[in-house]
Amino acid sequence: MSTVPFDQMDGQIWFNGEFVPWRDAKVHVLTHGLHYASAVFEGERAYGGEIFKLRAHTDRLIESGRLLGFKIPYSADEIDSACNELLRRQGFADAYVRPIAWRGSEMMGVSAQNNRINVAIAIWQWPSYFNPEQRMKGIRLDMAEYRRPDPRTAPSKAKASGLYMICTISKHAAEAKGYADALMLDWRGHVAEATGANVFFVKDGVIHTPDPDCFLDGITRRTVIDLAKRRGYEVQVRTILPEELESFTECFLCGTAAEVTPVAEIGPYSFTPGDISRQLVADYAAEVQPKRAAAE
Ligand SMILES: Cc1ncc(COP(=O)(O)O)c(C=O)c1O
Repeated sequence: MSTVPFDQMDGQIWFNGEFVPWRDAKVHVLTHGLHYASAVFEGERAYGGEIFKLRAHTDRLIESGRLLGFKIPYSADEIDSACNELLRRQGFADAYVRPIAWRGSEMMGVSAQNNRINVAIAIWQWPSYFNPEQRMKGIRLDMAEYRRPDPRTAPSKAKASGLYMICTISKHAAEAKGYADALMLDWRGHVAEATGANVFFVKDGVIHTPDPDCFLDGITRRTVIDLAKRRGYEVQVRTILPEELESFTECFLCGTAAEVTPVAEIGPYSFTPGDISRQLVADYAAEVQPKRAAAE
C-alpha cells in the first residue's frame, strides 16, 4: 500500500457535485461531521472498471443518511453517475470507492438542523485487505472487548462513522497482540461480526452465520449466501453463541474490502480453511468480475 498520506495523493475527488483536484478536497475543522460523527459512508470495490453492486451501495448510503435524520441532496442516479465518471477519470480498473456524506459547519452544537449535507466520493487503489499469501492459510482473530450496540442505543443498520469508533479501538487492540482483526459479540453476547466484515462458520457441511439484527447486513454477506445456495449448501442464519465456536470446522469473513477471507483462529479456537471456504473464495472472485466482460 502507498505510504503517501491520503490527503496528499493525486487525482480528483467528486465534492458536492464537482470534480476537484485531490488535494483541494478539504473541510474546515469546525465541521459537524468531525465533532459529532454526523457522517455516513460506503465502501465499494471496482473490478475490471465496473463497481460491484453500485446501486445497492448507493441505496444503503441514502438509507444510512435517512437513519441519521438527513436527506442526501443527490439522487441515486446522480451518485452512481458520479462514481462511474470518477472511476473513469481516475483511470483505475480495480479500485476502492468511498462515498461519504456529512453535516457541514452552519451550526456547531448537538442540534444541526440547518447544516448543509455535503457529499464527496474518492477512489483509490486498495489491494486485498489481508496479505494475499495469508488468505488461504486463514487469518487470526482476537475476541474484541467492545460489543455491537443494542439497536435501541444506536442506528445499527446505518453505515455511520460513529459506529466505527469501537471497531478501530478493537482492531488496534487486536493488532497490538499480533492478530489481524477482532471478532465482536453483540450487546446480548451473541457472535456478531468482525470490525469491518461479516462472519460465517461451517459445521458438517452446513454454513452458519449470525442474524444481522444489530449490525450491518453486508452486501457481500448477501452475495455469499446467494452463492452458497447456488452451490446447494444449506445456510442457517441464526443466533450463534460464543460457546459454539469450538464446534465449527471452518470460518471465514466477508465484506467489500475483505472479500472472502478464511479464518484460522479466533482466540483459543482453531479452524482449517477447507473446501467450502475455498469454493466461496473462488465463487466470489468470479462473481465480482464485470458482467459486461462475461457477456462478451
Ligand atoms: C462493520 C462492518 N460489517 C460488515 C461489513 C460488510 O459489508 P459489505 O459487505 O456491504 O461491504 C462491513 C464492510 O463495510 C463493515 O464495516
